[in-house]
Amino acid sequence: MVQKIGVIGAGLMGNGIAHVCAVAGYDVVLADLTEDRLSDAMQAMGRNLDRQVRRGLLDEIGKAEAVNRIKTTTDYADFGDCDMVIEAATENEAVKRQVFEKLVPNLKPDALIASNTSSISITRLAAATDRPSKFMGVHFMNPVPMMNLVELIRGIATEEETVAAFKAVTQRLGKIPVSAEDFPAFIVNRILLPMINEAIYTLYEGVGSVEAIDMGMKLGANHPMGPLELADFIGLDTCLAVMQVLYDGLADTKYRPCPLLVKYVEAGWLGRKTKRGFYDYNGPDPVPTR
Ligand code: NAI
Repeated sequence: MVQKIGVIGAGLMGNGIAHVCAVAGYDVVLADLTEDRLSDAMQAMGRNLDRQVRRGLLDEIGKAEAVNRIKTTTDYADFGDCDMVIEAATENEAVKRQVFEKLVPNLKPDALIASNTSSISITRLAAATDRPSKFMGVHFMNPVPMMNLVELIRGIATEEETVAAFKAVTQRLGKIPVSAEDFPAFIVNRILLPMINEAIYTLYEGVGSVEAIDMGMKLGANHPMGPLELADFIGLDTCLAVMQVLYDGLADTKYRPCPLLVKYVEAGWLGRKTKRGFYDYNGPDPVPTR
């Protein structure tokens, strides 16, 4: 029986994963590099829990209980009694490898590990641990408390029991799992990110303005968000990282990251999280930056 879940990385995704696990009744250990990042994450989670209370999805007691179930830490020794650990650190293979190197000496022998990576090979990440059979991809969607889908990805060595355990947990979180094979970016991002990259090319080539592109896809394709708005929401660094993985992993020029996306990331304009991307978020309403 899974009782305690570790989450590594308290960014956008890590704090959402910790949130839904705690609301579902699991004890959670949430780790990041610094206390500052952890306190930012707990504040963001508090705001998200309050929103759920306002919508009647949770009561004040449920909220307080969920917060009490979460322990924050910068020390990997605190993962010693976790039944499973979900890694949601920065989308960078070297960073994730380092995380697993530090993590595994601290784990129980039968503890399971998942990565929330958007695009990196699960088989390759599994090989950076001491337990590839107990490792798989569990890919949540952003924002985690609101999005119902979870992609479950087996590595070549993943055992059936590992898949069953993570499937049971995602279902207890109220999510709907779908299986994807271990190909670059899996299913959703394989389709979504090239669409976003194409929207950025459309801007880069001057075919349309930020507003025209987003309005075009909202009204013309019935998408709830425009692709540039969505790129800012995902994080432009994450978008670029996924395109690079598609480009390298599938060796097809159709996945070439748009130079404008590369420039924005080089400028540190990463979208909502830095308050500037294709829109400026410093005022009450987002304002297009081009
Ligand atoms: P983020 O940049 O918001 O958060 C990453 C966090 O990891 C940061 O707080 C950072 O300090 C922390 N971190 C870095 N190295 C660490 C280490 N050694 N130990 C502990 N913490 C460390 O990134 P985000 O968006 O939360 O992405 C995390 C993962 O989730 C990535 O693998 C990404 O591909 C994936 N993902 C992202 C989605 C999105 O829409 N942003 C959607 C689904 C998956």
